[in-house]
Amino acid sequence: MADVAVNIRDRLGWVTIDNPPVNALGRAVRQGLQDAVLHLRDAGVRAVVLSGAGRGFVAGADIRELGQPPVAPFLPDVLAAISDSTVPWVAAMNGLALGGGLEVAMACHARIASPDTKLGLPEVNIGIIPGSGGTVRLPRLVPMATAIKLATGGKPIGAQEALETGLIDRLATGDLLAEAAAMANELAATGRPDPALLRDLVAGEAIDWSAQEAQLRRRSRGAQAPLEALASLRCAAQEPVDLALAGERDRFLRLAASDEAAALRHVFFAERAAGRALKQADAAAADLSSVGVIGGGTMGAGIATALLLAGAQVRLIERDATAAAAARARVAETIAASVRRGAVAASGGESALALLRTGTDYAALTDCPLVIEAVFEDMDIKREVFAKLDAVMPAEAVLATNTSYLDVDELARTTRDPARILGLHFFSPAHVMKLLEVVRGEATGARALATGGALARLLGKIPVVAGVCDGFIGNRIMASYRRDCEFMLEEGALPHEIDAAMQAFGFAMGIHAVQDMSGLDIAWAWRRARAAHRDPSERYAHIADRLCAAGRLGRKAGKGWYDYSSGKAEIDPEVTRILEEESARAGRTRKAFTKQEIMERILSTMQRAGQAVLDEGIAETPGDIDVVMITGYGFPRHRGGPMYMAGTPG
Ligand code: NAI
Repeated sequence: MADVAVNIRDRLGWVTIDNPPVNALGRAVRQGLQDAVLHLRDAGVRAVVLSGAGRGFVAGADIRELGQPPVAPFLPDVLAAISDSTVPWVAAMNGLALGGGLEVAMACHARIASPDTKLGLPEVNIGIIPGSGGTVRLPRLVPMATAIKLATGGKPIGAQEALETGLIDRLATGDLLAEAAAMANELAATGRPDPALLRDLVAGEAIDWSAQEAQLRRRSRGAQAPLEALASLRCAAQEPVDLALAGERDRFLRLAASDEAAALRHVFFAERAAGRALKQADAAAADLSSVGVIGGGTMGAGIATALLLAGAQVRLIERDATAAAAARARVAETIAASVRRGAVAASGGESALALLRTGTDYAALTDCPLVIEAVFEDMDIKREVFAKLDAVMPAEAVLATNTSYLDVDELARTTRDPARILGLHFFSPAHVMKLLEVVRGEATGARALATGGALARLLGKIPVVAGVCDGFIGNRIMASYRRDCEFMLEEGALPHEIDAAMQAFGFAMGIHAVQDMSGLDIAWAWRRARAAHRDPSERYAHIADRLCAAGRLGRKAGKGWYDYSSGKAEIDPEVTRILEEESARAGRTRKAFTKQEIMERILSTMQRAGQAVLDEGIAETPGDIDVVMITGYGFPRHRGGPMYMAGTPG
């Protein structure tokens, strides 16, 4: 049996799940486990050690099977057979123990894990909940508050936390399998512990279920699966075990066939497919142990932070000593904030900062195989920077620009070797946001592309390849629906109505609240730069320009689309007045918009812009566009992305 190996040694049964790359619980693995239970029942072993071959235990279900009707043997039955075994089963975990993998471990009679193990129930991330007793067993091993966090949040925890909460019984300090065998022998001697389903709920603080539900409903922004996971845990707490198990299975099957799960599976695969071309680039990536960054403002400091936290040395160049000192302070503060948030350990923060050198001399960059430019968004300044790089950098160095809108090809043409130039468009805050648009210019070579891919892997980002155009994939699509939102304002909608419609659809924030947060001035400068080339017959809304001219540049100015003088965003009659004047100027009678009309407009504008981006070859696949909008622009993941919603194949 290739997928599950069963051996008997020293009177112990050794069951090893071996289904590369992640030991997913496909049909053959479930069959193998079921056969193993039967085989070992009659073999006279004292106990069983269950482990995963290779780098981890079990990363979860086989996602390809999830869209299909389940096939026997069903995981709940396999797990019941393991739990019913008269001799103890010990789960020995390392690497990933996720989803169905953790459910398998919870069905065993005891659990041990290596310190590197990540344990969790990430089912909600793909629109489902555990379907094999996970939500019923979990609160019998850990306090309910922890169970709620794990099953509704979908984030895994480390082995140490798993030990502290009771999810595992022991942490392996040395050889996992040897220590699991010792544990199995101890249990064989002292008696098999009760399986989780026969245990009481773990005592803990009382749960206010309606408060939990209200809070989760706000957080999940329309996604159903987290709420169903909570409902399932509530049944586990309040119903007999059999009913709770049956209820969980019903919910699981219903969700597995839902639109939400189909959309989330699409995103799951689209994220993994994104940037595949970079891996296949026919060249070796540049070494990334030392990377140069030019400009240490908002983006440069964020990019430097991301690199430092990933263990790379960073040489950060600014225009003068004062700016260099300010850049260093900015990086130090960004790292400190990550430590405060708990995203980084204090010691990790210190060692990261120790990898930073700041200065003004380009000579410091010559041993950096990759340099990323993040100076002001101004072609002349960027040109000057690239001319200096051209003069000092060795021929094989890769040079990248973080420009948002400027023409990467035009910039590349000013350099000696355009093949080594590419765009690496990060999103703010650069050390947090997962998206990286890797901009392939007309001359960008394989080594530069491979380096973009390697950088994304180093930083844990999702790379999407984009061609050169005004705004690449994301900003171009955003500019188009932002413009259409202004048309709607001119036709009669109000900023807070558009924002409310977007939030009801599942965006974390509406477009006007977002603009106020990041400032209205950047887009204003961009519009002014283009004003001379604008086709006078093309429709143009002047609303945002008037707001900017009135000093309403967003939160930092105390007012933008909203008024912030009270500390929070309030509707401002002054803005409404400007809108009414602009409607009159455009000769439009203002009309009311429903939430649905607003979202239909926004979606169809996004989809048209997305289709144009595809037709021009700027994006490679519709899935890439969905990934950009979801990971970079707050499009609700559980809707699958604008192109997915348009029914675009692929
Ligand atoms: P910023 O104004 O915060 O920082 C620019 C930094 O570059 C300043 O610290 C400045 O002192 C430095 N600088 C200017 N000229 C220089 C030179 N000749 N040599 C060395 N350093 C120099 O600007 P921000 O927001 O960080 O933007 C930088 C680039 O990143 C721009 O191209 C922008 O379009 C792009 N970008 C910005 C995003 C954002 O959300 N702010 C998102 C993605 C890209």
